[in-house]
Amino acid sequence: MTSPHELKGRDLLCLTDYSAEQITFLLDLAAQLKARYYAGERVLDVLRGRSIAMIFEKPSTRTRVSLQAAAYQLGAQPIVLSASELQLGRGETIPDTARTLSRFVDAITARVYRHSDLEVLAKYATVPVINALSDLSHPLQALADFLTIREKLGRLKGVKLAFVGDGSDNMLHSLLVAGSKLGVSVYVASPSSLQPDKRILEAARREAEASGAEIRFTEDPFEAVDGADVVYTDVWVSMGQESVAEQKRRLLSPYQVNAKLMERASSRAIFMHCLPAHRGEEVTDEVIEGPWSVVWDEAENRLHTAKAVLASLVP
Ligand code: CP
Ligand code: NVA
Repeated sequence: MTSPHELKGRDLLCLTDYSAEQITFLLDLAAQLKARYYAGERVLDVLRGRSIAMIFEKPSTRTRVSLQAAAYQLGAQPIVLSASELQLGRGETIPDTARTLSRFVDAITARVYRHSDLEVLAKYATVPVINALSDLSHPLQALADFLTIREKLGRLKGVKLAFVGDGSDNMLHSLLVAGSKLGVSVYVASPSSLQPDKRILEAARREAEASGAEIRFTEDPFEAVDGADVVYTDVWVSMGQESVAEQKRRLLSPYQVNAKLMERASSRAIFMHCLPAHRGEEVTDEVIEGPWSVVWDEAENRLHTAKAVLASLVP
């Protein structure tokens, strides 16, 4: 399966490095692979003989299992590695790890605390490096999210997505970056003290100008959600932020997605969450289990978008 957009050999650290056409290509391929999977083509041969190292510095359910299953379904061997079990955990450097793994495998996916560590890994690796979540971004999840929105609403351009919660969230960064490229308007409701990374926001604003998408910030969740097609939230306390957990819970308590808030959205609005969810904090049970919720379809799309990314990037 060759990509007409020349993605073979590319890293995927952040969707800022990908054009709207390349993102759309990945979404189209994911949709195709999903259809083939449902038609009974469970295992394809496109990456036969390849191995993919998958490093995790943090826990993961969806990313770990979807990447592993995706590799298997494309004919490749996934090698899942907990960072603490590698010599990395005993002080071997990232450059040395990158150069060694590159001699064994055809790609490396990594979930890291610091995005800068991913950049070092990519600098020294001679095989593609794919971000499986960092403190800055979560591109694999954003691809699954936009595939889900396209499936549910039939379009991306002109869609209004309201993100309610932590304005400095890694997930929000990826939604801003990809949404602005794809013409999806992103309205953010968050406390003014929690703002996105400046470079991400500048990049998203530039892209929004070109695509016609809007990016707006408010402290009022009802204002952001008013008429929204998609209401999205993420945990209030991300992995690695445990030391500020209480402070963030206090700050974010007015930003819970509940039925009263959902009623301000469009009558056909969907509710999305990258998961894992903390019910009773950022979302209530009645919303995540209610008629708006598409979270399980969203989670499922992690598998098909992971396959699209691996099939396109792994040489
Ligand atoms: N959404 C997501 O990345 O979930 P995991 O942390 O379970 O991988
Ligand atoms: N913002 C969350 C996303 C989890 C998929 C975290 O980083 O923990």
